[in-house]
Amino acid sequence: MSKIIVAIDGPAASGKSTAAKELANRLGYVYMDTGAMYRAITYLAQKNGIADVTDKVIEMTRGLDIVLNFENGLTRVFVGNEEVTEFIRTPEVSAKVSEISRIPEVRTELVKTQRRMADRKSIVAEGRDITTVVFPNADVKIFMTADLDVRSDRRYKEFIEKGMNVTLPDVKENLSKRDEIDSHRQVSPLKKAEDAIELDTTDLTVEEELQKITALIKKVELNKSHHN
Ligand code: DC
Repeated sequence: MSKIIVAIDGPAASGKSTAAKELANRLGYVYMDTGAMYRAITYLAQKNGIADVTDKVIEMTRGLDIVLNFENGLTRVFVGNEEVTEFIRTPEVSAKVSEISRIPEVRTELVKTQRRMADRKSIVAEGRDITTVVFPNADVKIFMTADLDVRSDRRYKEFIEKGMNVTLPDVKENLSKRDEIDSHRQVSPLKKAEDAIELDTTDLTVEEELQKITALIKKVELNKSHHN
């Protein structure tokens, strides 16, 4: 079967990861969490004390080999030989990641890696610029949204389940701040691609969401198999 690219963009905690991961599992596609890559850079920049020095962040990014390893429903993130999976979703990294993601040179490097990952295999990729910049010719393009309160609630529950010490107002503030920066930056801002299908998940269950996207993918798979 020929290669299929499913691209999903949307604001923070809109349900992209949950949907993309499950779709990849069910369809046997590779799952690509591009936010994890921006988070890994942010974590390392903070660890090295250079998160506020743009030139150093750029230099560091150019020398890094980031690998995403999706196994058993979990993305493990490696930078060179170092595994950073458990360090990239902290409130500290979440508070800084949008600023690091604004740096054009950082984006150029990561986009190269992202395109390489989709060279050979069918893929479900999610992020902020996947439908607009990374894979503008993707076979299925989704722009996922949900009310800020619903998104905050969902993310807050995830943090609590992981035993993290956060408050709902803090989570909400982080999401809305990131959305603001991510949507208004100069390079590759978060926006709906003209030909993307908007999916508002506010009142949808995960299963309903998955059914809708799967129907779109199945249509493409069928079409492609007829043309081969
Ligand atoms: O998907 P996430 O919430 O883990 O992403 C974290 C941040 O990374 C997000 O607020 C902005 C940035 N990001 C980006 O700029 N472009 C992407 N394709 C993915 C994430």
